[in-house]
Amino acid sequence: MKKSLFTPLILAGSLVATGVLAAEPAKPAGSATMPVEMQNMMKVYSPELRQKVMALSPQLKGTIQQLHAGHPRRAKETTLRQIMHEILSEYQSIASALATDNAEQAAEAARRLASHRIPKGGLLAYFPVDKVNDADLGVLPAMNTAVEGSALKLAEAADAGDMPKAAAYMSDIMTGCVACHQKFRATPGLSAHLMPPASK
Ligand code: HEC
Repeated sequence: MKKSLFTPLILAGSLVATGVLAAEPAKPAGSATMPVEMQNMMKVYSPELRQKVMALSPQLKGTIQQLHAGHPRRAKETTLRQIMHEILSEYQSIASALATDNAEQAAEAARRLASHRIPKGGLLAYFPVDKVNDADLGVLPAMNTAVEGSALKLAEAADAGDMPKAAAYMSDIMTGCVACHQKFRATPGLSAHLMPPASK
C-alpha cells in the first residue's frame, strides 16, 4: 500500500514468487541468456570470477539480478566495504533514534539502510571467489530479508509510533548482518606482517 515501503522489499524470493520481475528469467545456461546488467558487470571481472559466475545456474543468476534490481541505485566508485560502513552508520542512527524516542529518525535511517547503493561491479566482485557458487549464494535472499525486510518493518513500526516493536527488529537485522559475515566475510583487517602462529 505504501509504494515507498514496498519497493526496497523487492527481494529475490518474493519476486520470484509473485512474478513481478519474472519478465526475463534466464533459461538455458550461458551468457547469451544472462541479464544485460550482469553481462556488463562481468566485463570487468577477472577471468577467474567470470568463470565462476558463468557456472552459476540460471536460477541463481536470476536471483542475483533481482537482488541488484531491488536496489536501483548504483555506486560509481564505492566499494562494498565502504557501503557496509554506510549501512553500519544507518544502523547506529536507528539505535540512537530508538534510544531518544525519535520515531522519524528511526524510520528514515531504516529506509536508507534498506535502500543502499550497489557497489561498483556488483556484490559478487567482493565475495571470496570460492563462495561464488549456487549453494553458498543461495542464502542471499534470506539474508536480504533478515536485514532489509526487518529494517522496513522497523520503519513501519516507527511510523506507527510503536517504538518497542521497532526496537525488537534491531536484533533481527543484526542476525542478518552476522549470518552474512559468517559466510562471506573473512576476518576484518588481518595484517600481512604478523607471523603465523607456530604449527601445533
Ligand atoms: C550480503 C551479505 C552481507 C550482509 C547482509 C551484511 N554484510 Fe557487512 N560485509 C559483507 C562482506 C562480504 C564484507 C567484506 C567486504 C570487503 O571487505 O570487501 C562486509 C563488511 C562489512 C563491514 C566492513 C568492515 C569489516 O568488518 O569487514 C562492516 C562495517 C559491515 N560489513 C557491516 C554490516 C552491517 C551493520 C550489516 C547489517 C545491517 C551488514 N554488514 C550486512 C557482507 C554482508
